[in-house]
Amino acid sequence: MSVKVPRGTQDILPGQSEKWQYIESIAKDVCRRYHYKEIRTPIFEHTELFTRSVGDTTDIVQKEMYTFEDRGERSLTLRPEGTAAVVRSFVENKMFGIPDQPTKLFYTGPMFRYERPQSGRYRQFVQFGVEAIGSEDPAIDAEVIALIMDIYKSAGLKKLKLVINSLGDAESRNAHREALIAHFEPRIDEFCTDCQTRLAKNPLRILDCKKDRDHELMATAPSILDYLNDESKAYFAKVTSYLDAIGIAYTIDPKLVRGLDYYNHTAFEVMSEAEGFGAITTLCGGGRYNGLVQDLGGPESPGIGFAFSIERFIAAMEAERTEWPVDSGLDCFIVAIGMEAKDHSVALVHELRTAGLSADRDYQDRKMKAQLKASDRQKARFTAILGEDELAEKRITVKDMAEGSQDNVLLSELTDYLKTKMEAN
Ligand code: HAM
Repeated sequence: MSVKVPRGTQDILPGQSEKWQYIESIAKDVCRRYHYKEIRTPIFEHTELFTRSVGDTTDIVQKEMYTFEDRGERSLTLRPEGTAAVVRSFVENKMFGIPDQPTKLFYTGPMFRYERPQSGRYRQFVQFGVEAIGSEDPAIDAEVIALIMDIYKSAGLKKLKLVINSLGDAESRNAHREALIAHFEPRIDEFCTDCQTRLAKNPLRILDCKKDRDHELMATAPSILDYLNDESKAYFAKVTSYLDAIGIAYTIDPKLVRGLDYYNHTAFEVMSEAEGFGAITTLCGGGRYNGLVQDLGGPESPGIGFAFSIERFIAAMEAERTEWPVDSGLDCFIVAIGMEAKDHSVALVHELRTAGLSADRDYQDRKMKAQLKASDRQKARFTAILGEDELAEKRITVKDMAEGSQDNVLLSELTDYLKTKMEAN
């Protein structure tokens, strides 16, 4: 019996992987313009990192983590998200000591969540995220939101909706928490057992329960926006005024609470509004986490960031029928006829590659016609044909597939010839 990929994971094959590279390159280029630098952290971390940051009443920690014991009996977890590890690294490497703050970082890599796989939801998915840690200036909230919208725009996506909310500071959240308890407590026995535990521990989490989302009390639950204190209101007003100033359209949704515990103040998501996009429309999620650095043992350093998965980004591109860059193909395919010519083509293809051209040759001992077809399939710009007679004269026939022209070139001049022709275009 053959072995298949595990449920909720996928192979990214040539033909698809170029799309991944394209999105990653756009995102990295936008990060360069906004002055964010790359950070790479391990794929597994101590389990405690996620229970302390993402929160032990969240679905992620309660149901979705790939946790295992290593041979030294340590509890480790495949990272379900990137923020916790970036903040851990920020503290561990004392990045707060760098004179210029915030520290602006981006990352990309696989994340793991044991969720029920469906369209747009995988057990291994790749996130691209940014974190700006060390500033409470609302201008940085607007910058981070502008950055994600810029990434989408640069890739050609248009049918997007930016939704934002404020979760307020600790005081506002406490007032909201009391209101939520008063709202749900009288009828909590109508809710799932998870929600019953959440009521005392973290009633906000009830609002993103997948099982009870249609319960009538959900729609009438107290809104955080009614519990924001003056400071939190002023902060949120500043963020939205900056978004207005840079012309970013948004919708305020008081029900947006996000599924991770570390958030306060600004929370946001970007949804796809493309027709035919699957049931899960959230492309990107993010927000502010002012207490997280302290919770993980660092000094007070307020942070904000977001992450999106490349899987959902690609799905949105496909749903909007956005154009992908065309595969430019090989620079040169060498067709060799006869044993001597084949032997010679080993060094020839190497010479072209060393000179910076993309080049390939036949490895299946095929006839000339089949080699020419292969060159076509590889979309080679030039096909260089080496026969016995030509080899004897130290020459090679070069077909320019774009122009339909043909030249007979000295073998020793092939590289220069190809380079000159390519530069001329
Ligand atoms: P999150 O909302 O859990 O936030 O995930 C962010 C994004 O990751 C989602 O909007 C979605 O694009 C993608 N995603 C999540 N789960 C899956 C899945 N199972 N399959 C495919 N894509 C998925 C975070 O992870 C936070 N760390 C974001 C953040 C960064 N907040 C501040 N900084």
